[in-house]
Amino acid sequence: MELTPRLRAVADRVPEGARLADVGADHGYLPVWLLLNGRIRWAVASDLRPGPLDNAKENARFYGVSERMDFRLCDGLSAVRPEEVDAVSIAGMGGETIAGILDSAPWTREDKTLVLQPMTSFPELRLWLQQHGYLIESESVAREGDRLYSIWTVRGGTMPPLAPAELCAGRQSADPLREEYLDHILSKIARALAGQRAAQRRDEAAIAWLEEAAAGLNAMKEELS
Ligand SMILES: C[S@@+](CC[C@H](N)C(=O)[O-])C[C@H]1O[C@@H](n2cnc3c(N)ncnc32)[C@H](O)[C@@H]1O
Repeated sequence: MELTPRLRAVADRVPEGARLADVGADHGYLPVWLLLNGRIRWAVASDLRPGPLDNAKENARFYGVSERMDFRLCDGLSAVRPEEVDAVSIAGMGGETIAGILDSAPWTREDKTLVLQPMTSFPELRLWLQQHGYLIESESVAREGDRLYSIWTVRGGTMPPLAPAELCAGRQSADPLREEYLDHILSKIARALAGQRAAQRRDEAAIAWLEEAAAGLNAMKEELS
């Protein structure tokens, strides 16, 4: 069984020997692969919908790891007890959904490793984490087809305020895909700026924020080269 590059990058951030809660597990490939490869001790897969959870159960059976997995039909972590797990993964979901799931489980700030792979609302989620007692320890980028994904390791802690460019693209890093990722974020900002500038009622504060983010991202690019 092979994971796609995105899920493999998530898997590589899960601590060895952990007991993992994979939230929104869907097919369950992530915990199944981690168990098959002896990376983790035990996993609980949660999903909001019965269909995906059944897929996860079926895959766990197929790959012979059912005895080391549990399955919970629930919203986020609502049916997972803090003492059951050392690590939590939430991948392939919108940033606002991820923030909502963590907000309902404040115990995730206490001595747990979180591996997050949001699909949307990156600045909002980074800001939410900073304002709610989480620290983004590191980030990396994975490429799958022509898409780039950002994967974060997060723990409870104090994170200094992030500048607009850091809210958009995370803190500067030496990731091999960093420059490509910065270009990708810069093009999103250029589109947002064009939209704001063309709007009948210009939001000058939003324009100033986007301009500051673009300048910061360009400075990060220069630093890399
Ligand atoms: C796009 S899939 C991602 C699957 C897998 N984590 C991955 O990254 O490939 C999102 C899954 O999350 C589930 N989901 C969405 N919101 C959820 C929530 N609040 N709690 C638990 N599961 C949720 C959906 O039912 C779906 O199976």
